[in-house]
Amino acid sequence: MSRILLPVLASLALLACSDGADPAASGGTSAAAQSVSADLTAPDAAPVEQAVALATSGPDLANGQRQFRRCQSCHTLNEGGRHTVGPNLHDVIGHPAASAAGFSYSRALREAGLTWDLETLDAWIENPRELVPGNRMSFVGLRNAQDRRDVIAYMAATTAQGD
Ligand code: HEC
Repeated sequence: MSRILLPVLASLALLACSDGADPAASGGTSAAAQSVSADLTAPDAAPVEQAVALATSGPDLANGQRQFRRCQSCHTLNEGGRHTVGPNLHDVIGHPAASAAGFSYSRALREAGLTWDLETLDAWIENPRELVPGNRMSFVGLRNAQDRRDVIAYMAATTAQGD
């Protein structure tokens, strides 16, 4: 579990301060979260600073849980949970896309060659249709970067508890 969770935590911090803002100077959770930029590819904060940022302006798991309600109409998250409209999402983070046994994925997602690292997951939740045209997840997307960060953190935390 820790093999997966540690990079998860580090990357969440990366999501939180991908604009390079000093988390201490930005005044805590909401300011830091507001400043999350779309550019996840050019982090300039050192790993230690990222970890500190996570500790001090960490994700809002309660909000993550609230946001996940929108996913629950189609997804279970518990270990061994049923596939419903969409596949069970337990342990999806860090794994190749379309790899849950027993779910019939679209060809588009199967052939996309994605791995659900945090940046990819973030892009998917923001706009699944744009990331993988022709996939079958009919979800409009979460436009708010903080909501996406929180829901990913909630998924990571829930998975970690179950291990
Ligand atoms: C209307 C139903 C629906 C909603 C709402 C929905 N999903 Fe999905 N989701 C799906 C379907 C269907 C698939 C499979 C897509 C395919 O095969 O093309 C999927 C696939 C996924 C995958 C890829 C799983 C894998 O095994 O590769 C992730 C991750 C995911 N959804 C996360 C979410 C999250 C997070 C939310 C809420 C923010 C959400 N989904 C909301 C239906 C939904």
